[in-house]
Amino acid sequence: MISIEPVTLLKLGGSVITKKDQPETLNETNLRAAATVISNHRPKNLIVVHGGGSFGHFHASNFDVTVESGTPNATEVDIIHSSMINLCDTVIHTFHSLNIPAIPIHPLSVAWRDSNSVLHFPSQHILSLLESGFVPVVHGDIIATAKEGATIVSGDEIVTNLSNSISTNRIGFCTLTPGVLDSSGNVIPHLSPHQQKESSITHSSATDVTGGMAGKVNELANASSPVSIFDLPNLEAFLKGNNPGTLVQ
Ligand code: IPE
Repeated sequence: MISIEPVTLLKLGGSVITKKDQPETLNETNLRAAATVISNHRPKNLIVVHGGGSFGHFHASNFDVTVESGTPNATEVDIIHSSMINLCDTVIHTFHSLNIPAIPIHPLSVAWRDSNSVLHFPSQHILSLLESGFVPVVHGDIIATAKEGATIVSGDEIVTNLSNSISTNRIGFCTLTPGVLDSSGNVIPHLSPHQQKESSITHSSATDVTGGMAGKVNELANASSPVSIFDLPNLEAFLKGNNPGTLVQ
């Protein structure tokens, strides 16, 4: 068993690195800005997980594939997966252009859900990559699922799952909003999962098959350490060790 610390898990939201209302459209400015901050302030043992945005979500939504409801159709699986591979390739190339030693991990090849919908995500290879000084880059994807064919796995689920198998010190979610907002639009600095049920956080657009901000905060309750939710201008603060935006714990 390889043990590495400290480990930082960073999710780059699909709404940050893509233009969510335009199918398969990258937000090049934001991706480059995020990569520049990561390059300048990269913590030791960083794992990056990115979302689907207008790549995976667009196709998953067209085929009615969600986290719970799968598809038995190989062409649909291929279209959703290929779209995420394309996005991941771009992330990797952008990272490499800024000397971030990124290595892609594609969930369809390693992860699955069992008949109780439990996600299995082996992590020894990720630890081995960290040990060699690489930055593993994982992404939301479509994965084999017992009795369903294949279902979506969100980057958020991957983060919480990995945080339970790899001892993780810090978890950050870089999103389009500066944190979880109250009904007046102000950032809520601290939030417990039970508070979120009483707040005004709602599900976002129809092209988000994994539940928007409400789904995100619900999922984060399963993480092994507190999670910071912040926007791109605050990525630097997070990587420097601060807790900008909302801290969910
Ligand atoms: C979605 O991942 C992956 C697919 C739809 C294939 P996420 O749910 O993590 O994506 P974002 O961050 O919300 O866009």
